[in-house]
Amino acid sequence: MNQPSTAPLPATLADLVHRLDRARLTGEREMGNEAGTLPASRYTDPQYWQHEQTSLFAQWPVVAAHSSEVPVGSVLPFDALGVPIVVTRADDGRARAFFNACRHRGMALVASGGAEPTRAKTCKALVCPYHAWAYELDGRLRHRLHAETFDGIDPATLNLVELPCDEAGGLIFVKRTPGPAFSAADFLHGLDAHLLWLRLPQMTVFRKVDRVYRANWKLTVDAFLEGYHIRVLHRDTIYPFFADAYTVNMHAGPHQDSLVARRAAFDAFAPPGDRDALCRLATPTQLLFPNTFLIWHPDYVSLIGMFSPAADEVRWVHTMLIPPERSGEDWTPHWEKTFALIEQTVFQQEDIATAVAIQRGLSSGAATALQLGRLEHEVLRFHRNVDAAIAGKLVPAGGERDRLSF
Ligand code: FES
Ligand SMILES: [Fe+2]
Repeated sequence: MNQPSTAPLPATLADLVHRLDRARLTGEREMGNEAGTLPASRYTDPQYWQHEQTSLFAQWPVVAAHSSEVPVGSVLPFDALGVPIVVTRADDGRARAFFNACRHRGMALVASGGAEPTRAKTCKALVCPYHAWAYELDGRLRHRLHAETFDGIDPATLNLVELPCDEAGGLIFVKRTPGPAFSAADFLHGLDAHLLWLRLPQMTVFRKVDRVYRANWKLTVDAFLEGYHIRVLHRDTIYPFFADAYTVNMHAGPHQDSLVARRAAFDAFAPPGDRDALCRLATPTQLLFPNTFLIWHPDYVSLIGMFSPAADEVRWVHTMLIPPERSGEDWTPHWEKTFALIEQTVFQQEDIATAVAIQRGLSSGAATALQLGRLEHEVLRFHRNVDAAIAGKLVPAGGERDRLSF
């Protein structure tokens, strides 16, 4: 991350830095107004899970990929939302999403689901492996083998079924249900300015993992919404770098941006002029509601999607993004070591292992409710927002329903 940011800090991010400085000077932690309780059933009830599927995952824009993952002239299968999707980028540069299903007899156009996380394939057209119907990357049907045998079937009705898809701040968002277009920038409620300042679009993928664990997806979301546990759970790994539970938060619609204070903020605070300086003081962490986190470690980024294949399963898709000027082969050993520490040790053995252990306890009936203190107020807010989305009181901004609510 050598190149300095030249753009001024967005005002909302500058305010967070100011509050971090105040917390440092006063020693006072920002926290919620009251403690609260969550029913265990939020994590175990199949009916609640079904509501989340229909009201949240089927309706909300969700991050499918970092923009760099789908270069011009390529296609990327994406099935973490439970339906087969393919993201494409045609020569016009626009990211689009379609059902990954041929209009002839439904075959998947691009294979996915192997042992390794999927990567984009370079191609000029999507050609079905069953009978070779071919589609342009913008979804138009280009060719049918023996087209004359499909008497009376209008090819114009056989373009791929498009899904709402838009891009902002270096991220590609899709909705898994066909419908009107939406604006990803509007959906982000201004956080796109933060992502641009942090130069998310310029980052590049080093590594990606895609695994399923036995824990409700919200348990892994919860783990990233409070710094209260860092001192204990991460005592021997990352706690030496962090101040104890000093986090400042801002809300942007249902999303949030936080600065999780590092010890350096207390030892040597200076107003940050660029991303590197900011990431030395604190770890910026965004929740893009409902299920995506960005975590800005000092020299790389974790983009994490937490999907929900079943009530007691999370599909964890962690993409490690690095600055392009450090993507050469000589950097590979450094990033391998870094990735092993963050993914295999901190996330898998600490945060995810905890979520799995909690799920086991909740499923057995060992606890009927979870207690949340005032340092965990963002967890409560997140769950209130999930409830509100299920009740239809919270809808994503940036779509045609935008003006009705929120
Ligand atoms: S199913 Fe795709 S060409 Fe037949
Ligand atoms: Fe953690």
